[in-house]
Amino acid sequence: PEATTPTPVSTVSQYACQRRTTTQNNNKIFTDAFEVLAESHEFNDMEGPCLAFRRAASVLKSLPWTVQNLRVTEDLPCLGEHSMCVIEEILQHGRSFEVEKILSDERYQILKLFTSVFGVGPKTAEKWYRRGLRSFSDVLAEPSIHLNRMQQSGFLHYGDISRAVSKAEAQALGNIIDEAVHAITPDAILTLTGGFRRGKDFGHDVDFIVTTPQLGKEERLLTSVIDRLKHQGILLYCEYQASTFDESKLPSHRFEAMDHFAKCFLILRLEDSQVDGGLQTAEEDRRGWRAVRVDLVSPPVDRYAFTLLGWSGSRQFERDLRRFARMERRMLLDNHALYDKTKKEFLAATTEKDIFAHLGLEYIEPWQRNA
Ligand code: TTP
Ligand code: MN
Ligand code: MN
Ligand code: MN
Repeated sequence: PEATTPTPVSTVSQYACQRRTTTQNNNKIFTDAFEVLAESHEFNDMEGPCLAFRRAASVLKSLPWTVQNLRVTEDLPCLGEHSMCVIEEILQHGRSFEVEKILSDERYQILKLFTSVFGVGPKTAEKWYRRGLRSFSDVLAEPSIHLNRMQQSGFLHYGDISRAVSKAEAQALGNIIDEAVHAITPDAILTLTGGFRRGKDFGHDVDFIVTTPQLGKEERLLTSVIDRLKHQGILLYCEYQASTFDESKLPSHRFEAMDHFAKCFLILRLEDSQVDGGLQTAEEDRRGWRAVRVDLVSPPVDRYAFTLLGWSGSRQFERDLRRFARMERRMLLDNHALYDKTKKEFLAATTEKDIFAHLGLEYIEPWQRNA
């Protein structure tokens, strides 16, 4: 049950890293609409409006009450004219006609379908659409299309990996990774990150950080873990990226730039018998296993706090942390480091709390970062 008396809206920050956003979203009817609008602008390569709708959605997600009239939104940050119109439509009619038009648009539907495949981004989806391809069978039957390994495994395991991963399944995977990591390096550090660290009940994958107390041993640990999973026969797909980390480089300005630590994107075979309460569907009950997406990243231990903060998300929370650092503090933050442009020096951190303190921000718990 949500509060009905709005808290003073003037206190809501434009930065997600100054808001506390739990998984309880009191404005889902509005934020779902904004997310469709954001995605449709992304498909049209319009980054500005896309980000504007993502910011608007993020502000509404942080409110402990439901928007019930247009007046209360006037004092909220990040809500432009277009967002207000959509809210007004939904308040009046219970739905947005603009959003419904997008949802029934063929191009939107096909790009949504194509980008739901592991390894297929908006660029590839758009290329396939422009070639007149309209379904998976069109793509798979087109001789001139070369699928990379990631896309091939994306199609092969489509059914399994497009279905959400439960907390119980994430826990079971944690046990498997934990066993492998500690069999190789007894004092290794393993941490669950991503959406499950934020307290989400379901995710599209499971994210872990693995590192070693001895600086420099972490990359060897990651390759050994991959080897072990392969020998156990549970590695269905592995894309490994070696470290290209250079500690003399300044933090990146661009959020979407990936970090440079050793990492791997995996698809693992999870047995029904390993999951508390069993797997989710009838088909899987017969088969006895499902495929699950897992990401592992392996930073040097002195970068652990930056990696943990960067991989815990949400993406909007991360974007705003960086934007806040740059705009309000003249600092550069990414998954590797924090740099103070005024003092011209790197600021070290061993915990997430250190980083929030360097930035002059109140600490926000992982479960309050669902921006
Ligand atoms: P995701 O796993 O994509 O997202 P999520 O865990 O928040 O949600 P879901 O339940 O759908 O899986 O990414 C987690 C965080 O990791 C995200 O904030 C971005 C970050 N990340 C990097 O910083 N670098 C990378 O190379 C990748 C792949 C992710
Ligand atoms: Mn617009
Ligand atoms: Mn994740
Ligand atoms: Mn991930």
